[in-house]
Amino acid sequence: MPELLKELKDVQSVHGSLVLTNGPIQNTVWAQNIWLNAEIIPFESISQAAKILKSKGKLWAHYSFENHRRTELIQEQLPKLRSRVMNFLGDLPKDPIGAWTLLDKNTLLVSSETNSPFPLGNIEFNEDKKTPPSRAYLKLWELFTVYGVKPSPGQRVVDFGSCPGGWTWVLQQMGCNVVSIDRAPLDEKIAKLPRIQFMKTNAFNVKPEDIGAIDWFFSDIICYPAKLLELVKNWQSSGLCANFVCTIKFQGKTDFETLAEFQRLENARIQHLHHNKHEVTVWIRKSSP
Ligand SMILES: C[S@@+](CC[C@H](N)C(=O)[O-])C[C@H]1O[C@@H](n2cnc3c(N)ncnc32)[C@H](O)[C@@H]1O
Repeated sequence: MPELLKELKDVQSVHGSLVLTNGPIQNTVWAQNIWLNAEIIPFESISQAAKILKSKGKLWAHYSFENHRRTELIQEQLPKLRSRVMNFLGDLPKDPIGAWTLLDKNTLLVSSETNSPFPLGNIEFNEDKKTPPSRAYLKLWELFTVYGVKPSPGQRVVDFGSCPGGWTWVLQQMGCNVVSIDRAPLDEKIAKLPRIQFMKTNAFNVKPEDIGAIDWFFSDIICYPAKLLELVKNWQSSGLCANFVCTIKFQGKTDFETLAEFQRLENARIQHLHHNKHEVTVWIRKSSP
């Protein structure tokens, strides 16, 4: 929330985790869900509120920051929202969902369109609780499934800061040939999988020429953002890789300056994914973001 407030211009008011802004829709790094056509509508009774919502759309996700019981009573009168738990690389839900909240007992904030097919932007997966050695794999699952940014089978990829091996596992499962690099060892069962070449070393000492041409650069290294930026620029100028996916991790304070430098990279897109913690994901594609 502090990051979002710093990022947004023309903030009008804040309601729980909802920020209302004036003017056109803003593209943000930090918003989980953007309500695209929000309107404020007064109402008298619960049934009237439900009627208003039904007249504006079919499926609704509710957000409640106060008046919880009243919100629930209204939501109960709307068609039931079925679970939208995703499978990895599954098709995205097609039916749009609106979002609404109560600003006070008699005032609806309603948006029949949002920028996500998931309720309030909450993306859940049918997780694999057995194989991956860490939950970091969910970041790649989200990026690949929801944003469609993904490598193809047979491509050569590098995974920096790969231990214990969640990302390496995802990439290997997708049919990629993975050069997996960390100072710490990979989980044993991941290390045994085919198409993985593990290098136990400091990522910052590895030169692009040591690895050669790759299709994708992945990094989930814990390091200062400026250090990661240097590594990315180094690889970009080598001409040996065109596509990048990295987690920019913040220790303590958010480094807005370096974040802005990442934003200035050509074709870079940065998003705080649902599965990101105090970090954001940047991806840079060869042609378009
Ligand atoms: C968050 S973990 C990565 C998790 C991994 N993506 C997964 O899915 O399991 C960050 C990793 O960065 C590694 N790391 C930190 N500094 C590094 C460096 N200079 N060189 C190589 N690895 C480094 C750490 O050893 C740690 O394993």
